[in-house]
Formats: sequence, C-alpha cells, structure tokens
Amino acid sequence: LKESEKYPEFIARFYDLVYDKIRTGADHHWYLKKINEARGPVLEVGVGTGRFFTEALNQGADIYGIDISPSMIEKLKEKINKNQCHRVQVQDVTKLEINRKFELIIAPFRVFSHLIEIDEQLKALDRIYKHLKPGGIFIFDLYVPDPKMISEGITELTDFEGAYAPGEKVRRIINMKADIVNQISKVNMKFIWTEKGKEYSADWDFKMRFYFRYEIEHLIARSELKLEKIYGNFNDNELSPDSKEFIVVCRK
Ligand SMILES: C[S@@+](CC[C@H](N)C(=O)[O-])C[C@H]1O[C@@H](n2cnc3c(N)ncnc32)[C@H](O)[C@@H]1O
Repeated sequence: LKESEKYPEFIARFYDLVYDKIRTGADHHWYLKKINEARGPVLEVGVGTGRFFTEALNQGADIYGIDISPSMIEKLKEKINKNQCHRVQVQDVTKLEINRKFELIIAPFRVFSHLIEIDEQLKALDRIYKHLKPGGIFIFDLYVPDPKMISEGITELTDFEGAYAPGEKVRRIINMKADIVNQISKVNMKFIWTEKGKEYSADWDFKMRFYFRYEIEHLIARSELKLEKIYGNFNDNELSPDSKEFIVVCRK
C-alpha cells in the first residue's frame, strides 16, 4: 500500500458517522458474536476506528488490533482507555509481526480489497497463518462484484448526508470506474462539510480490488490456511445467486 492509499485524516474523521449508519446494522452483531465466542486472544487486522474493537474490549474481550492508516488508529485510541492503547498499533498486515498467537483473526469490511496485488494477498495470508494458534480461525469479508456497477460505474452518487455536530452538516459523494481486466475499482470519495458558517471539501482517489468466488478459493488454496466455508450473508446463509457478501472462514 502506497502512502497515498492510507486513509486521509478527513476520511477517518467522518468514518464512524457514515458507517454506523450504512454498515453497522449488517455486520456488527455477527462479528461481535465471533469475537466473544473466541476461547483465546483475538486480532483484528485493518481494525480502523474500532467499529467492533471498542465494544468488544468493553465486553471484556482479549482483543488486539493493527491498521496501516495512522489516521484511523488515532481515532480508535481516542475512544479507549489509555491503559488499553498497547493493544493497537500501526502495522501493515503484509508484514504483520506481533509477539503473540491468536485463537481468532478477523479482517472485517473489505480489508482485503485494499490488497491489490496477488503477492500482497498471499503475504497477508502467510503472516496471518503464522499468528494463528493451531486450529485457529481467520475470517474476512469481501463484496460480490455487481455486474451493473462494473459496466456502468458510479457517477456523482451522494450516498450519505447527515449532521456530524449540532447545526453542522456533511455529505459524501462517490465516483467510481471499474477495470474488469485488472479487477480494480478506481474510486473517488468526496466529503463536503460545513464548519462555523464556512463550507469545506476534500476528496481522495483510491483503488479497491474486487474478487470472484473461485479466485478466493484458489487464493486460500495457495496459502497454508484451509478454507472451511464461504457464507453469502451475516445470517450464515450459503452463497446463492443473490449473495452480496463473501464471508470467508479459514482454519489453521
Ligand atoms: C473499510 S476499513 C475497515 C475498518 C474496520 N475493520 C471496520 O470494519 O470498520 C479498511 C481498513 O483496512 C486498513 N488497511 C488497508 N490496507 C491495510 C494493510 N495493508 N494493513 C493493515 N490495514 C490495512 C485501512 O487503513 C482501513 O482502516
């Protein structure tokens, strides 16, 4: 991941506001249950601002987190007790190095879409494998590519509008073009917000790698992990032609 691909400060700033509204309803309960059921330490790679981490910690989980974006880790640290900050670090999952082994490692909400090259994906799987206890579980999720979005892209879509403080508004606008051969979506994410009577805006260009079902199966087969199951949603349903998610469960 290049420097320009780390999450900028303004993305981290509005992250919880946006995703608590458009994502948490789908995945929160499922991942928290997995974390709480784990019989040993848990690691979240790409922990972000701690959408799961902070609540899991409050519920008594022995959870650790790493993320490549300092902006996201900073937000997370603001939300937890100082004496728990040793649990989170800025690290790249492709070079993961923690002096501990985990019962469960999770990479929720498209972390692997940030790993563009096969080489990075395999390195990440290898580092994760090395940090699992024997029999330990690794879970990550990806979106099922949408053929309509791949062919048409996204133009000036306002996908979030809300208040981030009393009387202060923020809006998010998405543009996207997909490259089917390289399986990459080139995204532009723009925020426009008010602050004390003035309007501000900032935007960020980044790439998301999209994966197909059998590619995921082949990728895991090239790693030392064993694929247990790919679910199609957070109700533990099998993959079906209507699935929007790949929820991939692997074991050491
Ligand atoms: C969509 S966010 C998900 C954050 C959190 N897991 C959640 O569910 O809200 C993806 C996160 O992956 C992180 N990330 C991307 N590439 C990474 C890498 N190579 N190593 C570690 N974290 C990475 C980003 O910085 C970002 O915080």
